[in-house]
Amino acid sequence: MVAGNWKMNKTLYETRDLIREMYPVLHNIQGVEVIICPPFAGLGVAKREVEDSTIKLGAQNMHWSDSGAFTGEISPVMLKELCEYVILGHSERRAMFGETNETVNKKVLAALAHGLKPIVCVGETLEENQSGVTADVVGSQVREGLAGLTAGQAEQVVVAYEPVWAIGTGLAATPEGANAVHKDVIRPILREMFGETVGDGMRILYGGSVKPDNAAELFSQSDIDGGLIGGASLKADSFIALVKAAM
Ligand code: PGA
Repeated sequence: MVAGNWKMNKTLYETRDLIREMYPVLHNIQGVEVIICPPFAGLGVAKREVEDSTIKLGAQNMHWSDSGAFTGEISPVMLKELCEYVILGHSERRAMFGETNETVNKKVLAALAHGLKPIVCVGETLEENQSGVTADVVGSQVREGLAGLTAGQAEQVVVAYEPVWAIGTGLAATPEGANAVHKDVIRPILREMFGETVGDGMRILYGGSVKPDNAAELFSQSDIDGGLIGGASLKADSFIALVKAAM
């Protein structure tokens, strides 16, 4: 799976144009699930552009309630008419908008209740990494973020390991370093929580400065099942190169 997280970038026309630029190459790609996640405002336009293609859409956040007095928020009921996936618990939302493992968990449960597939982001800060608590931090984010899910629900979930120090810095984790977190920290917890078969089948993406020149090596690791891409998803040529690296 290769998912593009556009963050707060692209107007409606830019959304339409970028999809049209990628469409000829990506509209019928086999063997890799391609997802683009524009801002809420662009999802309607994006939906029209990707119709009749294998390209799927995701949102970047969501409230856990169906509707109500939550000014500025958007609900799973609204999103399910627009997209199949939703990114939840991105580190930017945790750091800047007060999201916690508890609110991420509410969102994950709400998304699943409405048939949306969550891409749940986890990852340690530089300080946590340097003080040697990566496994504890990431472990708690996975356990608490996915608490209360049935094995059947967990099958719909994608986990994205995004070390905060690697996001937007140009300093990606090493393929071996990222794979070690996927294989020795996240995968065993998924197996313990949801059983070996489901835990082994769940996709764990890596995110953080994935670029065309480091993607193939990252994606070739045993437990890296694709990428969640920020900066390099904003240009057609680099996003296409990343999709090809995953094939
Ligand atoms: P980046 O962002 O690829 O620009 O590092 C990744 C992300 O935040 O999902």
